Amino acid sequence: MRISVVGGGYVGLVSCVCLAELGHHIDLIEIDERKVRAINSGRPTIFEKGLDEYLSVHIGKSLYVTDCFDEVSKSDIVFICVGTPQAIEGAMDISMVRIASESIGDSLRNCQGYRVIAIKSTVLPGTTQNFIAPIILKRSGLDSRGLGFVANPEFLREGRAVEDFMNPDRIIIGSEDETAGDLVELAYKKLDAPVMRTSTSAAEMIKYASNAFLAAKISLANEIGNICKKMGIDSYDVMRGVGMDHRISPQFLNVGVGFGGSCFPKDVSALIYLAEKLGDDPIILRSVLKVNEDQPIRIVNMLHERLGDLDGRKIAVLGLSFKNGTDDVRESRSIPVINELKRRGARVFAYDPLAEQAMRKEISDIEYCSKAEHALRDAEGCLVMTEWSEFRSLDNEFSLMKSKVIIEGRRILSYVDKEGICW
Ligand code: UGA
Repeated sequence: MRISVVGGGYVGLVSCVCLAELGHHIDLIEIDERKVRAINSGRPTIFEKGLDEYLSVHIGKSLYVTDCFDEVSKSDIVFICVGTPQAIEGAMDISMVRIASESIGDSLRNCQGYRVIAIKSTVLPGTTQNFIAPIILKRSGLDSRGLGFVANPEFLREGRAVEDFMNPDRIIIGSEDETAGDLVELAYKKLDAPVMRTSTSAAEMIKYASNAFLAAKISLANEIGNICKKMGIDSYDVMRGVGMDHRISPQFLNVGVGFGGSCFPKDVSALIYLAEKLGDDPIILRSVLKVNEDQPIRIVNMLHERLGDLDGRKIAVLGLSFKNGTDDVRESRSIPVINELKRRGARVFAYDPLAEQAMRKEISDIEYCSKAEHALRDAEGCLVMTEWSEFRSLDNEFSLMKSKVIIEGRRILSYVDKEGICW
């Protein structure tokens, strides 16, 4: 098939190389010229395991990158993969979706044949039908005989996105028009995964509901973990036993300092916004975020209880990215932890193997260290915020501390003289 992908960010780029790997001809449309140049010369603009290999195989052969929308008119399917960041009060900013839809519509003006617009960007239920479709139909002058619309959400995890694309748990295809859904289903026919067909709004909601469930699972596990901590029970043992129930599963039961990243906080907030707009009171969803906001304060309180007043004390923070394997610090729990430490007058010395530059843009007035031992030297307390595997082998480095108060927000250290936020 001939496929255009609009938006060369994280979802778009991963989708492109994987769709090329599935045998399709891909045109990636990206408005940032720097990204176009980088990707065309085989350099991925994000770090994602397996991406560079696929890119080097397909670029210039079955994958082409451009900043112009002309190729859209030659495509069987056009995937929209632009970002939908959080706007004020939890609502979603869909300005990039609007601009992409307008450009797609313009480039399809007076086109012959039939093609499908498939939306991968995370958008609130109703957006495909009530926002995207009307713009593209109006700008192109086409009707439903020439254009179909599909909501096709992605469930890619950062760091494992290529693997997730090629081995999905399910493929969700939402459409009002069967032909449109059939065409998108055909694009994935080489993947061995169950396909679920539904309406566009249900498909859009499946993405939010999935992320809300996963976020709720983490917050519930963390709340139980907090109780376990007070009773001296190992919450990891508890969650291991809980996860053996196949109805619950062992996934997403790693208790700790909470979830970060560009998706869970944003998507739960958007769902709360939607529920409130509909006149509902989403108490569970609000609590999911509340537990997540309280965990960073809890770990700082624990440090305070062990050390006393934090004013002027040197505190090492190990790990800045929202999870290991990435330099992404968006909504990382390290941000509220560092801000709270600063508010209490602590001197923060931070180390991360990958995310220092990204965190410098968020927080500039702390000391950044190039090694864990530099952060730990003479520190009175240490908080471990990301489960980087290199932290597992830290040992003698802790003997450099002035006083050994070490609290983990993620269970990773093998060093014995430490405690966890929930264990
Ligand atoms: C998440 C979902 O897992 C993907 O399915 C979804 O496609 C994506 O959001 C999205 O909406 O685009 P991602 O944000 O990459 O993926 O990260 P996860 O691996 O899910 O981790 C999110 C956060 O939860 C991290 O801060 C992680 O440390 C935390 N977490 C995860 C826990 O605290 N405990 C766990 O047991 C699992």
